[in-house]
Amino acid sequence: MERPRISIFDTTLRDGEQAPGCSMGIREKSRMAFQLENLGVDIIEAGFPAAADADFEAVRVISGQLRSPIIAGLARASEPDILRAWTSLENARRPRIHVFLASSDLHLTCKLRITREQALDQVYKAVSYARTLCNDVEFSPEDASRSDVYFLCRFVQAAVDAGATVINIPDTVGYTLPQEFSELIQMVRKSVHGIEKVTISAHCHNDLGLAVANTLAAIQAGARQVECTINGIGERAGNASLEEIIMALNVRQEKLPYETGIDTREIYPTSRLLAELIGFEPQPNKAIVGRNAFAHEAGIHQHGVISNPLCYEIMTPQSVGVPGNNLVLGKHSGRHALGKRLAELGHAVSRDDLDGVYKRFMKLAEMKKNIYDQDLISLLPSAARQSVAVQQATN
Ligand code: KIV
Ligand code: ZN
Repeated sequence: MERPRISIFDTTLRDGEQAPGCSMGIREKSRMAFQLENLGVDIIEAGFPAAADADFEAVRVISGQLRSPIIAGLARASEPDILRAWTSLENARRPRIHVFLASSDLHLTCKLRITREQALDQVYKAVSYARTLCNDVEFSPEDASRSDVYFLCRFVQAAVDAGATVINIPDTVGYTLPQEFSELIQMVRKSVHGIEKVTISAHCHNDLGLAVANTLAAIQAGARQVECTINGIGERAGNASLEEIIMALNVRQEKLPYETGIDTREIYPTSRLLAELIGFEPQPNKAIVGRNAFAHEAGIHQHGVISNPLCYEIMTPQSVGVPGNNLVLGKHSGRHALGKRLAELGHAVSRDDLDGVYKRFMKLAEMKKNIYDQDLISLLPSAARQSVAVQQATN
């Protein structure tokens, strides 16, 4: 059976880059864009051209460099912003203008100070204008998940009537719950005339730690594009993390039978490149790409992983481009892991010797948090140590 294709819209270079500590210059953005192309994303949102000259330039440069992905530029719902985005996309082989305007009463009254009717008129005019420039126009009702649902449907209707090709439903403040977000997407699909001709997209933030769960719920409700970032970087608690969405689809294919164009083996190299470019590591326990995502310290886990990695791993590190699982030696480790590491270091110790080494290892592990290979070698009986020294000298 054919599986529906989900387009991956990466906004690392726009929403991700907006986050504190995550900014990138044009050269960094360009390096990252090439790697996103290798990873296989369908759309790269390269910046918000009207917001800053550097963003304009980044979108312009990336548009000229990449040939496969669609390049999107963000714009507020105003002619000058839209024109600026379009100008920056001039060299793109596949350009997209992404227009947004808030739809929640809170944003309309407190931030924009316009009425609902004025906002509807602005959406129609902005999307119509964008369509005179570009065949591919995405529209986002900002703060959709906190908007009055009937008004949201009228808002989306105005954008569809004006010729939007993609309707993105953002959970701008990470407020929604999976079931609720699914119902919202279904409501939009049911109520907006002509919606079947446009792609529905989901854009979730992580303020309650639910961005990925909400994104998956949106896919199940009919969204065929998802917006996400590498390492989940983005405003406040971040955006839905690309690697988590992709691996959920990959690992749970029987429940989530969808396809993407992502080469999962490029996930870890992409994550590393981003961390290097922004100087900002994902947290150690970050799913898929964190330092500890494939690390095992507890003895019982290490024993299981040595016998069969599936005991404690639902995907192989290699499938996401991580070189290998990492048996961390510490006070929770067992004899198996210690023996394996020593063998890797060239010391195949006998069972009797291993008992002695293990006792010394446990004493050391009580005192020292990080145990290095040199520490392990110093625990060996001196004869074994010398034979390795000779081996190393002759190598
Ligand atoms: O979170 C948000 O609402 C956005 C829009 C501009 C799509 O980033
Ligand atoms: Zn956002």
